[in-house]
Amino acid sequence: MIQGGAISWLEGARQAPSAHNTQPWRFRELEDGRIAVSWQPERALPASDPTRRDLYLSLGTAIESAVLGAATAHITLTFGTGPSNVEDLPANVEHEQIVGYLQPVQAEVSEEDLLLARSLHTRHTARVPHLPQPVPASTLKGMQEEAQQRGSMLYVLTERHAIRKLAKLARQATAEQFADPAIQEELWHWLRLDPHDPAYRRDGLNAECMNLQGFSLAVARFAMSPVRMRWLSHVGLHHLLALETEWTVRHSTSLCLLTTPSLARQDVIQAGRTLLRLWLMADQAGLTTHPVSALIDSQSTVVPTLAVFGTQGAMPAAIFRLGATQPVARSHRLPREELVLEASRASEQEIGRDAQSKEKSG
Ligand SMILES: Cc1cc2nc3c(=O)[nH]c(=O)nc-3n(C[C@H](O)[C@H](O)[C@H](O)COP(=O)(O)O)c2cc1C
Repeated sequence: MIQGGAISWLEGARQAPSAHNTQPWRFRELEDGRIAVSWQPERALPASDPTRRDLYLSLGTAIESAVLGAATAHITLTFGTGPSNVEDLPANVEHEQIVGYLQPVQAEVSEEDLLLARSLHTRHTARVPHLPQPVPASTLKGMQEEAQQRGSMLYVLTERHAIRKLAKLARQATAEQFADPAIQEELWHWLRLDPHDPAYRRDGLNAECMNLQGFSLAVARFAMSPVRMRWLSHVGLHHLLALETEWTVRHSTSLCLLTTPSLARQDVIQAGRTLLRLWLMADQAGLTTHPVSALIDSQSTVVPTLAVFGTQGAMPAAIFRLGATQPVARSHRLPREELVLEASRASEQEIGRDAQSKEKSG
């Protein structure tokens, strides 16, 4: 058990970003003082994330957020993969879902971590056009050095013609996703377009954080349901909806590509930890980030995307817009208690959630 810092590491982890805001991470405090980090299968995205790249990146962001949260209570946590044993398994968690352990160690907390931790609660995704302000070269340099120190590379594009090319590719990739029934179904499951939805302030992507209001919200409510989207893509109108993505990407000050040495689980988790630090650095510089993952998810756009960055051989982990924006709403988070698994409580929670999701689908 971590003395004194129990809230700070968990509160840090709770603020982490995740694809579709699924918040897949779960934690269990073990008798020996370690914290087992695992994920919930029902919060994975098998259709849009079949390789689990986004899942492991998201777990990485939560691990780094926990480390930085603990730092604010002057506790140093390290993350490793073992040793593990069967008693470590929280109820209803398969061995495969434990990705590693956070462990308190005797070491000084760094000033750099304390500074980054200040942005845990303010960093957010902004899916809006960038203001016409260049990203300071010193910020980009700092982010690139940070990535390199942590085993990744960060490539940055600021040239207009390159950004226009990526914008077109983003439209193509988004249209492909709209035309894929399984991906569309999955997105619909995590979209929260009705403020009366009980999950509106818990998880997923709600209208405010997606910057949808008035006409655009009405269009999304009409068009995004899987049945309507199937019809729209049948007649080719899904390309029109994807134009919005092209427009947003076109209005970017910069686009950044983060690489990973491989798609092995621990490498992607490490890239996720780095990604979180980069996004916090951006927040400290008064900038926001906005991933455009479709570009590297789609088989038809990943190679041309890497070519625009001039990094043909690289293994992409994440691609995101970086710039200054107007203030936008931040996504909601699950309550802290739901993130911690205890042997007996875990199964009760699962039963409760199963009942809730049956009610919803019924
Ligand atoms: C690995 C990863 C992939 C993501 N991909 C996308 C994306 O393709 N498009 C998008 O709009 N947001 C994407 N996001 C942003 C999440 O939706 C966002 O982090 C989440 O909703 C929480 O909101 P916040 O970042 O404002 O705290 C991604 C986030 C992560 C961590």
